[in-house]
Amino acid sequence: MIVLGVNEGHNAGAALLVDGKLVAAISEDRPTRQTTRSGFPFQAIEGCLALAGITKKEIDHLAIASTQLPPKYFWIPRESFSIADFWREQNDYWKPRLFAGQKPSYMEVFKHRMDPSRFVYDASMIRGEDDLEGMLAARLKHHEAYFGLPRERMTVYDHHTCHAWYGFMVHPERLQRDLVVFTADGAGDGVNGTVWYAPRGQPLQELHRTNQCNIGRIYRYATLLLGMKQFEHAFKTMGLAPYANPKYGRAAYEVYAETLQVDGLGFSYRVKPKDHFFHFKEKLEGMRFDGIAWGVQKRTEELLSEWIGNGVRQTGTGHVVFSGGVAMNIKANKVVWEREDVHSLFVPPGSGDESLAIGAACKAVVDFAKLPGESIQLCRPMTSAYLGPEYTPDTIEKKLDHAQGLSGCSVEKADTRRVAGLLAQGRVVGRFVGRGEFGQRALGNRSILADPRSRDVVRTINEMIKQRDFWMPFASSVLAERMLDYVVNPKHLAADFMTLAFDSTPLAQRDMIGALHPYDLTSRPQVVHREMNPGYHELISAFSALTGVGALLNTSFNLHGEPIVHTPEDAISTFLRSGLDHLLLADWLVSKPGQS
Ligand SMILES: [Fe+2]
Repeated sequence: MIVLGVNEGHNAGAALLVDGKLVAAISEDRPTRQTTRSGFPFQAIEGCLALAGITKKEIDHLAIASTQLPPKYFWIPRESFSIADFWREQNDYWKPRLFAGQKPSYMEVFKHRMDPSRFVYDASMIRGEDDLEGMLAARLKHHEAYFGLPRERMTVYDHHTCHAWYGFMVHPERLQRDLVVFTADGAGDGVNGTVWYAPRGQPLQELHRTNQCNIGRIYRYATLLLGMKQFEHAFKTMGLAPYANPKYGRAAYEVYAETLQVDGLGFSYRVKPKDHFFHFKEKLEGMRFDGIAWGVQKRTEELLSEWIGNGVRQTGTGHVVFSGGVAMNIKANKVVWEREDVHSLFVPPGSGDESLAIGAACKAVVDFAKLPGESIQLCRPMTSAYLGPEYTPDTIEKKLDHAQGLSGCSVEKADTRRVAGLLAQGRVVGRFVGRGEFGQRALGNRSILADPRSRDVVRTINEMIKQRDFWMPFASSVLAERMLDYVVNPKHLAADFMTLAFDSTPLAQRDMIGALHPYDLTSRPQVVHREMNPGYHELISAFSALTGVGALLNTSFNLHGEPIVHTPEDAISTFLRSGLDHLLLADWLVSKPGQS
């Protein structure tokens, strides 16, 4: 059975399941080179089908994520928004609506951002910028025409159903454990939090859904108040929080703590703010920026921990799955997994809206597989996040032959020892090998790699390519065999996808200080198993043989503000536009003049 999942909303993308196996998943931002790209994901769909050698005609079922996508966000794609645009959204759209009883038009406020070329649907079916029903009908009509599939072979799934089924179906021990599943995000289909329960081997049962789980909304507006983009930069607020002196953060924390409260499996308010932006803006005026980050992060951790604790108590299982955009807060995840009553925590890769297409496709397998009683077993857990395209050495050789701007660079065939040797000498290497990763974390195949032993490497990489904010940490890839040497992980949690934070051991603070948070010394490791990525495991092992350090600094292969590289052309272009010393493309090593 061939199921294609499609998400047209924020972080659009596609995913392909063949006989219950996830064979491809691509986010539209990669091929289009636009971070958080929304809209019908033409290129992601084509990419997934091409990877599996499948044509549109062979699709058995189409699984479409989200029932309520407002037309205005298709006409005005918010990935083009500047920080000033997000402030304008508050001042010129939401403020008059919430506080003056006016109804400004979004399309009018943002007419300078209007991009009609991005609207591929039948506009005559839509009455107004908020016509959800008309938009859904237009989306279905477009899918019908594009795929040539009859309506009965298409299902539209609710947003949080997709988040929940994604986390559940890709869980590595889904068939062995009772699981409690939580989803939380800014909002999707009018909901921002759900709780589900699955007795061992059984389908998910929904226990609760709410539109009052405003943790994500409060957090993203705190990010905007700090002068950063609300969707893309929440992780910067999280990275900033540990630097604050709690003495200065306490006052901001109190502002957040007096509003949203956990109430069983749902949420309520002690002080109900009229909105989640201006209320906090007013109350936080005059407070230090780092204290605000500390306050909102601490309150987020408390709320999530209490909420998840309530779900654990109610279902009687301590095996927790957490999905949705809020699950990308790895520091809050740390507080959750450290709870005594939480035995395990699984956060899937790319748990934000980029995984909705996978969740929708998984649910369709369960609903429409030919053997419905066995459909849960039919769908196989996710064994890796390497779900994007791969390029053979021959293809790459041809691309190198035709690439502009490489004159003066040396090109050679390089084995693992050669690359490990360069890393051990302190060189920084871009690695483009094997299949691309799904999700926002590079897991070795579209990564920039470096020796993690010195703090200086952070400055070097930032100057060369990343231009990251000075307070942000880099992540690490750690050999599975060395995990406990470096990572304080008493519950032996799986940490394959950089979705959890951990404290570091004294040895990690000596061996990989460059890949820890500079202030609280926590780490966000990718634990690398040989069977998941043999080539990458071999490289870290070779580095370990030279240095004794079983880990590398690993950051995503992209220039600041751009998506992770998708094609060899992207990799070459990024290499040439940056200060990177070396680029490994499959087994071809390209070195800048004087670096060989
Ligand atoms: Fe979502």
